Amino acid sequence: MAEKENKISNAVIKRLPRYYRHLGELIEMGVERISSNELSVRMKVTASQIRQDLNNFGGFGQQGYGYNVKILYMEIAKILGLDKKHSVVIIGAGNLGRAIANYANFEKRGFIIEGIFDINPKLKGSTIRGIEVRNLEEIEDFAKEHAIDIVALTIPKTQAVDVAERLARLGVKAFWNFAHTDLNVPEDVIVESVHLSESLMRISYMLENGSSMD
Ligand code: NAI
Repeated sequence: MAEKENKISNAVIKRLPRYYRHLGELIEMGVERISSNELSVRMKVTASQIRQDLNNFGGFGQQGYGYNVKILYMEIAKILGLDKKHSVVIIGAGNLGRAIANYANFEKRGFIIEGIFDINPKLKGSTIRGIEVRNLEEIEDFAKEHAIDIVALTIPKTQAVDVAERLARLGVKAFWNFAHTDLNVPEDVIVESVHLSESLMRISYMLENGSSMD
């Protein structure tokens, strides 16, 4: 990533997928250009926030014209790295691993599920949406032949730390961690933890307090 892009704050980066989704919807609706005011109404954020966010990347907007939706969409895709394909491997072919594997829309965003691994011998050779489930023992050989960009960890937390260490040793640089535990991987390895129960707890808080957390 260019040095300039590294300086963009995490808060802005976190908002980019939402811009990307709204712009994608606008393209589907045939909208070619949009002002920051119109985008602001649609996204329920202030127009100045939008201008500030997009100014981080050189703006893309023109006074009196607004934003060219397609160009902005493509630029944000580039910033997010969505103009490239990423290979994904799922470790754990249980309920959650299967649900992720069955969700074909990740592929539309360039996240290609290349392999699914489990330790249950009964699952070996079965397929999920046409993708073969392999035994975890095969991961070393698999990694020699396939670049693995992202590993989705959908295994019990008691297993996750060891498995992540093993995969990091194979050169895996990013984990999408669903196991409810912190991973012990080198600092340069990316760990994005997703915990649905934490979202539920936030909802619980908001119900208790009658407010939104934003
Ligand atoms: P599950 O029991 O249906 O599936 C777990 C699978 O992992 C099984 O097929 C098992 O054979 C396999 N497995 C166990 N150890 C393994 C290892 N060392 N290597 C490869 N495969 C291994 O469980 P479920 O419901 O799919 O949940 C999976 C994990 O995801 C659990 O840790 C659970 O707590 C977590 N989870 C997290 C959520 C979140 O929001 N972060 C939501 C739901 C589940």
